[in-house]
Amino acid sequence: MGKIIVEGGNKLVGEINISGAKNAVLPILAATVIGGKQSTIFNVPNLKDVDVMEKILISIGCNIKRIDKMMWIDSKPLDSIRIPEELVREMRSSIILMGAMLSRIGEVIVSYPGGCEIGPRPIDMHLKALRELGAEIEESHGYIHAKTKGLIGCEIQLDYPSVGATENIMLAATKAKGTTVIRNAAREPEIVDLQNYLNKAGARISGAGTSVIIIEGVSKFNDVTFNTMSDRIVAGTYMIASAITEGEIILKNVIIDHLQAIIVKLREAGSLIYTDNNSLKIIGPKNINSIDMIQTLPYPGFPTDMQAPMMALLSIANGTSIISETVFENRFKHAEELIRMGANIKIFGKVAIIKGVKELTGAKTTAKDLRGGASLILAGLSAKGTTEVENVYHIERGYEDFHIELKRLGANIKKIG
Ligand code: EPZ
Repeated sequence: MGKIIVEGGNKLVGEINISGAKNAVLPILAATVIGGKQSTIFNVPNLKDVDVMEKILISIGCNIKRIDKMMWIDSKPLDSIRIPEELVREMRSSIILMGAMLSRIGEVIVSYPGGCEIGPRPIDMHLKALRELGAEIEESHGYIHAKTKGLIGCEIQLDYPSVGATENIMLAATKAKGTTVIRNAAREPEIVDLQNYLNKAGARISGAGTSVIIIEGVSKFNDVTFNTMSDRIVAGTYMIASAITEGEIILKNVIIDHLQAIIVKLREAGSLIYTDNNSLKIIGPKNINSIDMIQTLPYPGFPTDMQAPMMALLSIANGTSIISETVFENRFKHAEELIRMGANIKIFGKVAIIKGVKELTGAKTTAKDLRGGASLILAGLSAKGTTEVENVYHIERGYEDFHIELKRLGANIKKIG
């Protein structure tokens, strides 16, 4: 299963080039199915979740070539309607293939993705919207069988700006007859990237990045090349690696606009942050300030994926901070692990109260989910002594060569197994 061992106390100094965004490339890879054409995607991060999506596309008949950060997909030979159950279990976000498959061949069988470490992860909004577009969806024995003779565009009001539901609707509506309007759509930058890919492939979509997205159904598609946006959560995680070690790190290939909520909070916590076109320098403070309140919110609010890394930083702040996790049901599992390292954290439902301590101490810990695992490594960078983090496969789902890059920046870190 693999574990990472960190000796705390080193300042992290140097430069890091931020990889392509996991949460942009996953829906884009699903979208390559729609047109039956060839897509060449650049800046594809080398992650376990991308490996799973690649396996899924191959399993349904697509031809794929992957060289370093470039992936070439020819979806013309697609010949299956069934998404392999074991792959859906490995990566629940493969549910966005539903919209793409309904667009391409009008039928898909996919197992219920089920919950994961951060909550039940229901897909009720996905299914309700696909039914409104005209899909017949049968849910039985843990499987979802959706089919249609042709989707019809309509007005869809989302109860909550769900990222995945917004993406699934965009993928389903791309070839629907007529126009689809999504209201209360998620505004995440990854959705803008998906719109940009789809429009380059021949779609007619506008409004991504706002809460109203309009999709005019089209039938003709073309080959496309596309460069994936930079990963704002990976960038934020390395920013905290600098903030928590009194470091000085320069991040290259970032999109400053996507990082505003993170920049504001890290400045409040005492970091000096300088930004240029697509690079950012962050100098960690000697003393970390506590933050009265951080509330995770849909974009452009403070990202829920940065909640765990931020909790690690606030564990050694001067004073008490409060984090309210409003997006997911159960996303504080890293707190008990940070407490093993000496953090003073109390959880009341979806609110965490973090009373900063002078110093964390190294301990044996276990990653329970992707961002929680990263937060334990961040805590280990500053803790006194040795920290072990088990189950690093969680971390490898979303961070490319995390321990290798941290070592290159000066961390005393290694991976075993
Ligand atoms: C995406 O998940 C991201 N994953 C998550 O990143 C991210 O945390 C999340 O958006 C919020 O930004 C990918 O893009 C692959 P949601 P998604 O649908 O689409 C509830 C990471 O660490 N909900 O916006 O699943 C849901 O339970 C991952 O990279 C319903 O109730 O997020 C949650 O409480 C973790 N019914 C809330 O909405 C639905 O039908 C937000 O979920 C759909 C969602």
